[in-house]
Amino acid sequence: MNLLRTKSVEQSIRDTEEPGHRLRRDLSAIDLIVFGVGVIIGTGIFVLTGQVAREKAGPAVALSFVLAAVVCGLAALCYAEFSSTVPVAGSAYTFSYATLGEFPAWVIGWDLILELALGAAVVSVGWTGYVVSLLDDAGITLPDAIVHPPGEGGGVVNVPAIVLVLLVTALLVLGVKISSRVNAVVVAIKVFVVLLVIVAGLFFVKGENYHPFIPPSQSNPSVEGGAAPLMQVLFGITPVSYGWLGIFAAVAVVFFAYIGFDIVATAAEEAKRPQRDLPIGLIGSLLITAVLYAAVSLVVAGMQNYKRLSSDAPLAEAFKAVGHPAFATVISIGAVAGLTTVVLILLLGQSRVFFAMSRDGLLPAWLAAVHPRFGTPYRSTVIMGVIVAALAGFIPLAKLAELVNIGTLFAFLVVSVGVLVLRRTRPDLPRAFRTPLVPLVPVLSVLGCLFVMVNLPVETWLRFLAWMVLGAVIYAVYGHRHSRLRPGQAPAPSGKTLKD
Ligand code: ALA
Repeated sequence: MNLLRTKSVEQSIRDTEEPGHRLRRDLSAIDLIVFGVGVIIGTGIFVLTGQVAREKAGPAVALSFVLAAVVCGLAALCYAEFSSTVPVAGSAYTFSYATLGEFPAWVIGWDLILELALGAAVVSVGWTGYVVSLLDDAGITLPDAIVHPPGEGGGVVNVPAIVLVLLVTALLVLGVKISSRVNAVVVAIKVFVVLLVIVAGLFFVKGENYHPFIPPSQSNPSVEGGAAPLMQVLFGITPVSYGWLGIFAAVAVVFFAYIGFDIVATAAEEAKRPQRDLPIGLIGSLLITAVLYAAVSLVVAGMQNYKRLSSDAPLAEAFKAVGHPAFATVISIGAVAGLTTVVLILLLGQSRVFFAMSRDGLLPAWLAAVHPRFGTPYRSTVIMGVIVAALAGFIPLAKLAELVNIGTLFAFLVVSVGVLVLRRTRPDLPRAFRTPLVPLVPVLSVLGCLFVMVNLPVETWLRFLAWMVLGAVIYAVYGHRHSRLRPGQAPAPSGKTLKD
């Protein structure tokens, strides 16, 4: 009962005007694109490219990047309509609350934790790897005990990852304006490094590395059992690498490289002109990165035989392999800076989703108070930062990157369904951006997300289901009873929250 109560779009927008609950509106379209590119280019291209080419796709990894971009592009067209219609903090969470109802919205908010918080933890662990390698270049060797989580490489705690997450959290508390300036500089460095790989790498490409472009499929014992993609299990296929099935399995991994364009939608409430700027920010950042990824992966696979690509730092190692270690150092510096901005924006997105959920009463309202001076939801930001720091410090996260992907794909899927629902239930709402070819594009987006999801391992599906069941229990115990949409519940937390 009441599981499907919806929060009207008008109410969502009105809530953002409440004193003490208003975020500053100071982001332009360019800021949003920089935000998007800043979070999109990261571990996916810098780290996963090599691993995926070696184990799953061969030189055809560029095709996997293109296919993943198509799925994300379809979802972005749906996100753009939603975010331009419901321009308030909270991304897919808010959109679902206005369309599908409270319980689905809770499910999405809970699910977004996988994308944002867990994603930030994964990226900060990747960041540690590059820091360690750079320090090694400089002759400084950090003890294994403080750079790995327990159970990995003699580790006790990953100190650099913890420090990174806490520093980023402090920046976020100080305010979006400061963060986006810092971010803009780092994004410029990162894009420079990616362009450097493409342009300088072209001189070292050898045609023979592209033969065969799609290596013939072969069975692979390392992806059997729970590690086998769900699709291969469903169709009774012996788990294979390479060939088209390998390319598809690679799509499900490199999808991680595009995670983040949707964060632009999360910052909706802080955009100066959300109606116009959000679609530009979403689709712009996705297009730019898709072109860069396809080019980078083609060049790197052309520089080295795919079987010899590095799993840890493929872009840098490819330059070492052709005798240019100086380029490798520059690339590593760019990666360190670049991964920092990814953590920053993922955490910003997470704090904004928590902000929106607590404003709605699904999480304690105390969390939603805005800092009187900095104008940021500092409580949710700090609490989240501490939890993510702990995850990054103590948990080995390689497998969990797939959990990030399944969570994100599920959110994309719900948003795509939401576009269809809102067109039917609220055709009257002004939409600054309309998804083209409805219902075709949202339907293709749903199918695309499902396709990528079934290419993820069985064990990832099981973890995902367990997480969602836990979320449902928490909703039943807390959110359902405290929702502001519950009859008799106070309509709006007021300045009282501020004085607490
Ligand atoms: N897309 C981001 C990355 O590749 C999350 O690190």
